[in-house]
Amino acid sequence: MNRRILLLAATALSLGAGSMAFSQSLPSLEKKDRYKVGFAQMESNNPWRIAETKSFHDTAEMCNWDLIATDAAGSAAKQVADVDSMIAQGIDVLFLPPREEKPLIPAVKKAKAAGIPTFLVDRSVDPAAAKPGEDFVAFLGSDFIDQGRRVAEWTIENFKGEKGIIVQLEGTTGSSPANDRKSGFDDAIAKDDRFEIVASQTGDFARDLGRQVMETLLQAHPDVNIVYAHNDEMAIGAIQALELAGRKPGEDVLVVSIDGTRDALQAIIDGKMGVTVESSPFFGPLACEVMKRYVNGEEIEHWVQVQDRIFTQDNAADHIGEAY
Ligand code: AHR
Repeated sequence: MNRRILLLAATALSLGAGSMAFSQSLPSLEKKDRYKVGFAQMESNNPWRIAETKSFHDTAEMCNWDLIATDAAGSAAKQVADVDSMIAQGIDVLFLPPREEKPLIPAVKKAKAAGIPTFLVDRSVDPAAAKPGEDFVAFLGSDFIDQGRRVAEWTIENFKGEKGIIVQLEGTTGSSPANDRKSGFDDAIAKDDRFEIVASQTGDFARDLGRQVMETLLQAHPDVNIVYAHNDEMAIGAIQALELAGRKPGEDVLVVSIDGTRDALQAIIDGKMGVTVESSPFFGPLACEVMKRYVNGEEIEHWVQVQDRIFTQDNAADHIGEAY
């Protein structure tokens, strides 16, 4: 065997050993009649979060969970403390939507050290600091970059004006959806020089803050004719601010967003909003299914990806009945 082949064989061996070591290092989950399951919600100030928590509660009985659900009320520090308390209560498994990418990393590592398999749901952590298959089992959620890209592509295709002056309302600073929805949109919209993003500011994924930020940005940029909000709650807040300022959302301003809430679908039906790309909050059944696979010793893909639909004038009325 020449030296190059020897090197390749050694690399393959070490890679194999490494990936085995990764899965062996994850805590296992034994078969039981009932499981003590922790779900550490980050906040409950919008319909999306409420629907997600309800989805876990609705799944609990069917999946034999004794569910401990907490609400960190918008504080990453409280979310860390909630995970701590769940570890102390002896949960078997943790489902965690980390509010921001960095502050929850010690909590993820602490759960692993305590022998608790952790699944990140809907949001992820900084991939440079904690990894699926190593620090936590898997991430269950949407492709946020793709959501932002799809909103931009829909805007490029459907904006009728000559020059698009865009205001962007960002989600919670430091959160994975805010980072990724921004980069996905910014990269895609930059491909068409009709468009310019004149302001991009956080509204913390909240309706009221979205409205306030939009009011301020309208003063600085009265010529805005496109609002891209990272979620529907901020889009609805922006619509309120625009109407208060005498603007006509849907006529002189195109509002585009992400989630698929009932209010957003109604705004689309009413002609005030152009599009919302779906981001589903219904994680309970998926969490149950993935956990069962894990108990059965199946290899779990590092990213259990959720597929998202797109809602426009063409189909919003067909889906409003199932919206939250
Ligand atoms: O992490 C998903 C985002 O968080 C949703 O788009 C938003 O509405 C929620 O608060």
